[in-house]
Amino acid sequence: MKSPYLGEIEPNKPATATFLVHSKEVRQKKTGEPYLSLVLGDRTGEIDAKMWDNVAEVMETFDRHDYVHVKGLIQIYNNRPQFTIHRMHRVDAATVDPADFFPTSQRDPEEMFVELRGLLSQMQNADLRTLLNLFLDDEQIAARFKKAPAAKYIHHAYLGGLLEHVLSLVKLCRLIAPHYPGIDADLLIAGAVLHDIGKIYELSYDRSFGYTDEGQLLGHTVIGYRMLQEKFQQLPAFSRRLRTLLEHMVLSHHGQLEFGSPKVPLFPEALLLHYLDDLDAKMECMRALIANDRHNEGHWTNYSASLERVVLKKLEYLAEGRKEELDVAMPQPDASSGRAAEAPEGQAAAPQPQPPRPGLPLTSSPPRTSSRKGHDRTTLGLFGEKLAEALQRRE
Ligand SMILES: [Fe+2]
Ligand SMILES: [Fe+2]
Repeated sequence: MKSPYLGEIEPNKPATATFLVHSKEVRQKKTGEPYLSLVLGDRTGEIDAKMWDNVAEVMETFDRHDYVHVKGLIQIYNNRPQFTIHRMHRVDAATVDPADFFPTSQRDPEEMFVELRGLLSQMQNADLRTLLNLFLDDEQIAARFKKAPAAKYIHHAYLGGLLEHVLSLVKLCRLIAPHYPGIDADLLIAGAVLHDIGKIYELSYDRSFGYTDEGQLLGHTVIGYRMLQEKFQQLPAFSRRLRTLLEHMVLSHHGQLEFGSPKVPLFPEALLLHYLDDLDAKMECMRALIANDRHNEGHWTNYSASLERVVLKKLEYLAEGRKEELDVAMPQPDASSGRAAEAPEGQAAAPQPQPPRPGLPLTSSPPRTSSRKGHDRTTLGLFGEKLAEALQRRE
């Protein structure tokens, strides 16, 4: 197994690790000397990397999609982590496990595929069920569907990401469809399964994530539409009008002409599919942005171009608030003795607030009360000195 992963490397500590080269540029310093500007990655993420010195000896020895062994350290530059490389050399691809270098869904694709098929088997419309089975029984489609990411960068950009996105969307469809009268749940679900199916051929995901020539030239909505035509040839009795509705859902799911849809959604299931697809993509995008922002201090993430905003790291924000309140609630030391003021004789001292214990997860959920009279350290920490005073007065 590869060690360490990018996600395990602490900033400002020398590190040695193997990465896949996602991009490589040779640039020039003001002095005219070359330097390397790279994007390196493994299954836990990717990072900008720069090599400033001794570049001439290594710059021709490796290329994009090669594996490299690097020595250097992560530093925070312009509020973003950057790997400064001191030494590097190319590594033979036969000596590494490719699975270590691609971000992968946390769920087993086979398990997700079985779950998806179980949900689809509950569809009432036999024609739609047959159509979806034609896709999922196709060995080449199924193999790629289990492997494909949902995007190169923006959301679910990891192996198995497309299947995870579709499974999530099918579950959302099952929840939302009964809420609106007249929605055909089976049509909505069929649209969810097929809306991004063209991505299995739009994206390449063998050595790094990118676009195939077909993907660049046609895009996944058109590729998906073409795949639909191939399968419909095997179903001559399929309702022509239902077929047109499904085709419209695939073509309109991006919602707006400027986002690549030739038509905007023109009936309720198509509109719902567009919004649920957008919701699922944005929720995952926000989750990943927060999860991958661990090098930045404070409670705001870096700017996300895809979400067009910075995002609040809620747990850090609340934890900082608790710390501030603890600092305010902490009693002042007795100036003469240097000890905390003692409780009056015969009266038990009120529990003193304590800083949070290291290693405990920071959570925004309300604390459970455990000590007598229904308050404890955590409660005092949360509500501050006013509550502590009030409780002391009551005692
Ligand atoms: Fe799409
Ligand atoms: Fe999608």
